[in-house]
Amino acid sequence: MEVSFYNFEELHTDSLRKDIVNRVDHIIQEGSFVEGPYNREFEKKFAEHNKVKHCLLVANGTDALEVSLLALGIKPGEKVGVPGITFYATAEAVINIGAIPVHIDVNLEDALFSLESLKRVHQAQQLKAVMPVHIYGNVADMENIYQYCDEQKIAVIEDSAQAFGGHYKNGNPVGSMTGLTTFSFYPTKNLSAFGDAGCILTQDDQLAEKIKVIRNHGRGDDHALGRNSRCDHIQAAVLDAKFQSTIEHNKKRSEIAREYFNLLKDTGVQLLPENSLKQSAWHLFPIFLKDQNQREALQAFLNDNKIGSAPFYEKAMTQEPPLKDYAGERENAENLAGRLLCLPMHPFLSSEQIQYVSTKLKEFLGK
Ligand SMILES: Cc1ncc(COP(=O)(O)O)c(C=O)c1O
Repeated sequence: MEVSFYNFEELHTDSLRKDIVNRVDHIIQEGSFVEGPYNREFEKKFAEHNKVKHCLLVANGTDALEVSLLALGIKPGEKVGVPGITFYATAEAVINIGAIPVHIDVNLEDALFSLESLKRVHQAQQLKAVMPVHIYGNVADMENIYQYCDEQKIAVIEDSAQAFGGHYKNGNPVGSMTGLTTFSFYPTKNLSAFGDAGCILTQDDQLAEKIKVIRNHGRGDDHALGRNSRCDHIQAAVLDAKFQSTIEHNKKRSEIAREYFNLLKDTGVQLLPENSLKQSAWHLFPIFLKDQNQREALQAFLNDNKIGSAPFYEKAMTQEPPLKDYAGERENAENLAGRLLCLPMHPFLSSEQIQYVSTKLKEFLGK
């Protein structure tokens, strides 16, 4: 048996391909290549589904972070807290606007942004903003993070690049709280474009207007400059075409996570905590090994057995050369990095495949 890490073939069914080809043909006929009607249609659907007033499409998930920082008025030299376990785009966005990233540690049990670490770091660093990341699709403790940030007047940008389909503890969809929330629609994400795209969610009318101005060269405000972070009409058409099926696929991902949990619960291998079964979008299915050696050996063993896996992330942000010298806390992130391994997770895994992966993992662990 073979179990691939991603499965693009089954994602792009014949009927979906036909629908997208028709949409692209229509766009060519109309000559409406940038920010066309599909952009507005998708923004409306995505906002409604996520119970938020505004969705603004932008060119990619990194731009979504940068444009959010600019819309909030974060200035060069100001400090922004970013977690130690993430994709480096989170910290990169801060540096790209001239601000200073400060490392916030993560929880050992779920690799998510730690509120306790934020509290300690903020005392010393006086942060202007924080960017909690819903890593692997699992959702940070936003109820308590917002409470603290509101008290301390720290702006919040939730990096939800990996978490379309995730929920807060109160059951509401990610993006429906008071801060800005950003998404990536890179082709490997749960909801994926045919290239790059991203978006920002906000409940705030004024911020939504600012984002519209910034993403389109400052147009709409005589006193503002912006940039080009418009979303291509073709990408919006693809996202709109895939939207409904992605909601179904996200349900499938939850069921698969539950099956993995049932099969792996007695093996002693560390999984995400149980609450992830209610909250995560299951973009990825991470397991926590003893150390880097065990992770490398397992990855090789799975590979020999034709099972895809990926070590997200081999290094904490505090260990990446361009980021390592910034201040903050790093202990848990560095403890976790290198011993994390993601098992296959996509909506087309069969029960036989999930069982095969679990059996091989048990075999490796001697269980
Ligand atoms: C956590 C996180 N933040 C930001 C990004 C950046 O998104 P994009 O690749 O669309 O720019 C990604 C993409 O992989 C991500 O995983």
